[in-house]
Amino acid sequence: MTPITHNCTPFEGQKPGTSGLRKKTKVFMQPGYVECFVQSIFNAIGGVAGKTLVVGGDGRYYNAEAIQIILRMASAGGAKQVIVGQGGLLSTPAASHLIRKRAADGGLILSASHNPGGIDADFGLKYNISNGGPAPEGITDAIFAQTKSLTSYVTLEAPDLDLATIGTHSLGETQVEIVDTVADYATLMQELFDFDAIRDLIQSGFTLRFDAMHAITGPYATTILQDMLGAPKGTVLNGVPSVDFGKGHPDPNPIWAKPLVDMVMAPEGPDFAAASDGDGDRNMILGRGIYVTPSDSLAVLAANAHLAPGYAKGIAGVARSMPTSRASDRVAKALGVDSYETPTGWKFFGSLLDAGRVTLCGEESAGTGSDHVREKDGLWAVLLWLNILAQRKTSVQDILTDHWSTYGRDYYSRHDYEAVDATAANLLMADLTKALPDLAGQAFGPCTITQADQFSYTDPVDGSVSQNQGLRLQFRDDGRAVLRLSGTGTEGATLRIYLERYEGPNGDLTIETQTALSDLAQAVNTLCDLENRTGRSAPDVMT
Ligand code: G6P
Ligand code: ZN
Repeated sequence: MTPITHNCTPFEGQKPGTSGLRKKTKVFMQPGYVECFVQSIFNAIGGVAGKTLVVGGDGRYYNAEAIQIILRMASAGGAKQVIVGQGGLLSTPAASHLIRKRAADGGLILSASHNPGGIDADFGLKYNISNGGPAPEGITDAIFAQTKSLTSYVTLEAPDLDLATIGTHSLGETQVEIVDTVADYATLMQELFDFDAIRDLIQSGFTLRFDAMHAITGPYATTILQDMLGAPKGTVLNGVPSVDFGKGHPDPNPIWAKPLVDMVMAPEGPDFAAASDGDGDRNMILGRGIYVTPSDSLAVLAANAHLAPGYAKGIAGVARSMPTSRASDRVAKALGVDSYETPTGWKFFGSLLDAGRVTLCGEESAGTGSDHVREKDGLWAVLLWLNILAQRKTSVQDILTDHWSTYGRDYYSRHDYEAVDATAANLLMADLTKALPDLAGQAFGPCTITQADQFSYTDPVDGSVSQNQGLRLQFRDDGRAVLRLSGTGTEGATLRIYLERYEGPNGDLTIETQTALSDLAQAVNTLCDLENRTGRSAPDVMT
């Protein structure tokens, strides 16, 4: 099999965003599109000759076809070995783990995360480096530069490989190893958590549901929760991955996972419920009668992680993305460990984790994780919660109540305005940026701005600087609003407004969240002239 070089003209817009390249599936299906992007990745990392790569995806439409293209190109580029999840399936955290465990040089993960899948929906592809984490900006910039100047790509003429059967195949000079999708990941979870204690909890009558949303965590959750931990059949809902995620939107939030939320809010609902997204890195945590915000979840996990064997020696520090509430900072302070505020995007946690500065990380966008891999990890969060519940032998509600009465409560909500006209959204952000220096002192109803700035981040480990990472408005009485445009959408612009307000341990800890934040929301809406500029009178999604 001799490598064949095809000439090509660069495709516009192959710019990796917050989490790799995300486009409509049909964009990826254009002849040569995947090839050009993959070649750009290979060129940007100095080629793949002699290297080992991990490849897998969340099983969405075009997953298998794109993997065949990648395998032929990896072989044409002289890769030594490619490790592929059976059927082309790997959750994002499992792919991260495999890269680390097998000391691979990197990996290609096929997913558009929580975006819908299908021929008329979304597809995505990203490159992860040898630590198992998303490529940092230096590399994604180099990939983008390649996409703009690419003149050719190299591939093989070879039939599709059988991805369904575990074992090793040869493709040209390259060994392609098909591995069990779940096994290595399940072993890692067993090392971190007290499976006996969780099994006892479940046997004692504790009830749980896990909604895999027809996506990648189905097989992982079925093996771990039902087969290994003894939860009854039916615990895992929507557990068979499908190419279009059952025509659903695999984003574990109260809107898209409403049936699960309704179930757990009912008086006879399960004790615990959780969901994960398309590629298995996000999570939503619920207890009977209560939704745990991702920001609170991070804080609770930080305060209780030592109850799980994998974290028994304590945590080194906690990192959160800037728009995530400051609840975890309060825990870090009490524990006497460092806390970090990074830009949005899991890739910013990589250097802190590698340097051992933090053990836990989290984002308001339903991501929580630790130094066990270099991606956020949905099922990991579920298992850590279960381990904590097994040790504390109390309800999710009581854990939260106890947490707030110890640390105070950061009321928190994100308001999303989706598919807004991109020009209008950019103008809004530009105008607000210009106004920043004059905002301190301005009052909107009961809310007075005390400080306003644009967030820029200097990585404390490698010194790299990331500018323009969102607008921060600080309000009197410890309120805060953050505004940024989503980096993951594929249609128009999505404006995210993050609202939070702190009540101390002796304050009112039982206000309904939107009520607690309504003055702040109103203040931001007025400041931005939101309705006029976006044509929207209310957010599309409130998480
Ligand atoms: C992806 C990344 C997360 C990030 C999120 C932000 O899910 O993996 O790390 O928080 O995107 O999305 P946004 O749409 O707000 O840019
Ligand atoms: Zn995801």
